[in-house]
Amino acid sequence: MKVISGPASTELAEKISIELGCPNVPVASKIFPDGESYVRIDGDVSGEDVALVQTTCPPAQDGRLLQLAFMADAAKRAGARKVTAVVPYLAYARQDKVFLAGEGVGVETIARMLKAAGLDNMLTVNIHSEAALAQFPFPAETVSAIPLLAEHFVAEGHGDAFALAPDKGAMYIAEQAQAVLGGGAGHLDKKRDRYTGQTVQTASGLDLKGQTVIIFDDIISTGGTIVGAAKILKEQGAKHVFCACVHPLLIGDAEKRILEAGVEEIIGTDSVPGKVSKVSLAPLLSGELRAH
Ligand code: R5P
Repeated sequence: MKVISGPASTELAEKISIELGCPNVPVASKIFPDGESYVRIDGDVSGEDVALVQTTCPPAQDGRLLQLAFMADAAKRAGARKVTAVVPYLAYARQDKVFLAGEGVGVETIARMLKAAGLDNMLTVNIHSEAALAQFPFPAETVSAIPLLAEHFVAEGHGDAFALAPDKGAMYIAEQAQAVLGGGAGHLDKKRDRYTGQTVQTASGLDLKGQTVIIFDDIISTGGTIVGAAKILKEQGAKHVFCACVHPLLIGDAEKRILEAGVEEIIGTDSVPGKVSKVSLAPLLSGELRAH
């Protein structure tokens, strides 16, 4: 196998190559003056199984998706035998169903586009809804980085923390964290208005006074969900509040607002490279690639 370093994930791709002990193939990329993307695979991939590592997080997720499609096409034209996309953060994953009449299903459209470009299969991380993968036109798998995040907190001395999901849908995440932490798990309730996007969070049957609580979620985007959860925890008298997510998008002033709400530290993975991305997905992804 050869690992191709997509322009959005060069560091992660290099780490995966090292873990696998296989060659890393760089990609030359640029944006033309009119805004169009260009990529060129700078190495021989003829006859090879290749892992194309490219996250598609903001900013410029549309451009990153196009780069991924262009790299898949380039790899196939260069004679690659099998092209596996390793896409830690898959853009449009939250557009996984028709919520209101007149909408399409964004993530399925993306998958069909990538199939047409030459992709044979995909590996992603904590996709928002695993059910969406069943509609993809190629084999696609999601793996969970929550145990890695929980292990980070154990190493930091918070092995007895309570794992909190900010809504019922994320309870499976809190349970995965609790399996590592061992300090209990639970969830808040969250309701979203589909037209305005506004959410309301409540806690029923949870009393976390005096406890160390880590809020676990798949994505932090605007930070609204974590801010709401942190406020509830602070009102309840939680002693320490941390938060962890797989995909720290942290749009706008999300980080500032989360810290101002009383969260002591935000921890994410290099699915979205940045200041809080202290946990690398390389061991998890290389393990999956090796197993297949
Ligand atoms: C939603 O169900 C997701 O799991 C996240 O909770 C959500 O996407 C976070 O978004 P935001 O940070 O904008 O509240």
